[in-house]
Amino acid sequence: MAGPAEGAAVPAREARGAAPVTPVPTGTPAVIDLVAAARTYPGPPPVHALRPTDLTVRRAEYIAVVGPSGSGKSTLLNVIGLVDRPTGGHYRLDGIDTGALPEADRTALRGHRIGLVFQAFHLLPYRTATENVMLAQVYLGTPRARRRTDAVDALLAVGLGHRLDALPSAMSGGERQRVAIARALVNRPSLLLCDEPTGNLDSASAGRVMNTLDALNDTGITLVVITHDPAVAARARRTITIRDGQLTEDSGQLRVGSPA
Ligand SMILES: Nc1ncnc2c1ncn2[C@@H]1O[C@H](COP(=O)(O)OP(=O)(O)O)[C@@H](O)[C@H]1O
Ligand SMILES: [Mg+2]
Repeated sequence: MAGPAEGAAVPAREARGAAPVTPVPTGTPAVIDLVAAARTYPGPPPVHALRPTDLTVRRAEYIAVVGPSGSGKSTLLNVIGLVDRPTGGHYRLDGIDTGALPEADRTALRGHRIGLVFQAFHLLPYRTATENVMLAQVYLGTPRARRRTDAVDALLAVGLGHRLDALPSAMSGGERQRVAIARALVNRPSLLLCDEPTGNLDSASAGRVMNTLDALNDTGITLVVITHDPAVAARARRTITIRDGQLTEDSGQLRVGSPA
């Protein structure tokens, strides 16, 4: 996995001399394809947490999802992440129609193609950074030696080559979140989904996490990042706003389905 040098904090996009952000061509294969996808929680009264939505996200796109608390951001992420099924419409991931799949196949697809990062890092306290990342591969049946080298590669990619054997308690919040990102990356997913990844971090740590996400996106990883932080949203190539379960996009790339 390509990544920044061991030990170095990941520098900002400009400092790395990365090319300015350019739009992803429309011919690029779609990773996410939602067609009138909706999720309603049963009532009474029913909550239309995600109204029928069409959304295409192509490989190497970087999408920020913003919106007030309770607007449906996590619901959208859970549908995209195969955590929850839409109650209406269709969801294709890498061209695979997920609606037709039994639960075991959805779980396998999630394990192989999706990395999830949350506000709370969810690291095991008595395991080192490397061990925490290795655990993400156990259920995929990867041999142990391969798991260790993959985990080290993922930690190098997030700039934590100098913290391989550190316990979470000895790491800063930003470092812990970068371990969580490495854990999400280790199975080489097509898609990295982050729900408020900088919500628990001071601004300096948040900056390093954002630089890490930029660097990963530059290597071709597709990112969907929920955030309240305008500084995080400013890094994305596209920003989608969600309000009362309804998505809008300033650039007009998003076609929104008719309300339920
Ligand atoms: N499991 C659930 N059962 C019922 N309602 C839910 C459930 N999860 C979320 N909701 C409701 O759906 C709406 C969207 O929630 P959520 O997606 O968590 O919003 P956000 O992440 O933007 O804060 C809210 O009105 C919330 O109360
Ligand atoms: Mg939420």
